[in-house]
Amino acid sequence: MDLRHLKYFVAVAEERSFTRAAERLHISQPPLSRQIQQLEEAIGQPLIDREARPLHLTEAGRFFYARAVRLLEQFHETIAMTRRIAQTDKRLVLGFAASTMYGALPHIVRMFRATQPHTELVLLERTSVQQIEDLNAGRIDVGFGRIRLESPNVKREVLRKEPLVLAMPCEHPLASDSSPLSLTAIKPYPLLIYPRQPRPSYADQVLSICHDLGIEPGTVHEVNEMQTALGLVASGMGLCVVPSGVQKLRREDVLYRPLMEPSAVSPIIMSTRLHDRPPDLLLLRTLIDEVYQEGVYPGQVAAPVGASPGDETRAASL
Ligand code: BEZ
Repeated sequence: MDLRHLKYFVAVAEERSFTRAAERLHISQPPLSRQIQQLEEAIGQPLIDREARPLHLTEAGRFFYARAVRLLEQFHETIAMTRRIAQTDKRLVLGFAASTMYGALPHIVRMFRATQPHTELVLLERTSVQQIEDLNAGRIDVGFGRIRLESPNVKREVLRKEPLVLAMPCEHPLASDSSPLSLTAIKPYPLLIYPRQPRPSYADQVLSICHDLGIEPGTVHEVNEMQTALGLVASGMGLCVVPSGVQKLRREDVLYRPLMEPSAVSPIIMSTRLHDRPPDLLLLRTLIDEVYQEGVYPGQVAAPVGASPGDETRAASL
């Protein structure tokens, strides 16, 4: 007895006629009758009352029909699931700091998905600090963040250094001009920084750039999210230093001015586990280079501000 017997029996039981069942199965009637007979012989019980018109199932036939339908469903499900598993057995989990979404990341992700449709690409929003923990715990395969963090088992690569810009409300005195300005211009105004937690964060990066330039901002307000900071900028509560890609958020009440200082940049850092080089990760890295070679990836808004690449920079696009 095999699956074909079940399939034939189910067809006869549902059609209540050998003729219609044979048509449905695209076979002639004699082999169908023979198969059902073989099935009944193997079971040792009649399953169909052949005297009745339309045909009726015996009690054993009704029981067998219910089981046969279930078995066939399970069989088809098993085939479909196995096919799906074979297709999605490859998985790449990518952690990203929220602000990298304003840069090349969406473009890179689209390219990766088009190139590798059978790899399940999972994107998880993670701060740079969380990315290191997640890499060590095997929860992500690659992280894109902005903060330089040391971990013995993590390889870090600066992909590029993104210029920073100063966000200000439209009616601010500094907003009358759109040319690059010095970061020293922020001194008289409150400075908004984000995120407050976890530290070290992008907030510390901005503070240390100011510090290294000898600029001590007056009042500093910490907020949790960039969106909040920009809302407060629009409210006239202060100024905020943001990566240039953020200009994609075209708020009509906020203006952005490029900064003159070459050190006013924020790195985009790719972190991976040391010696971990699955093919999908290598492909992702190649796609990043391709995107950078395009020069300007879609949505890139700020012209580079001549920052010099640091030691770690292997793929500076400045
Ligand atoms: C970028 O904006 O350059 C970038 C962001 C995330 C991943 C890779 C590149």
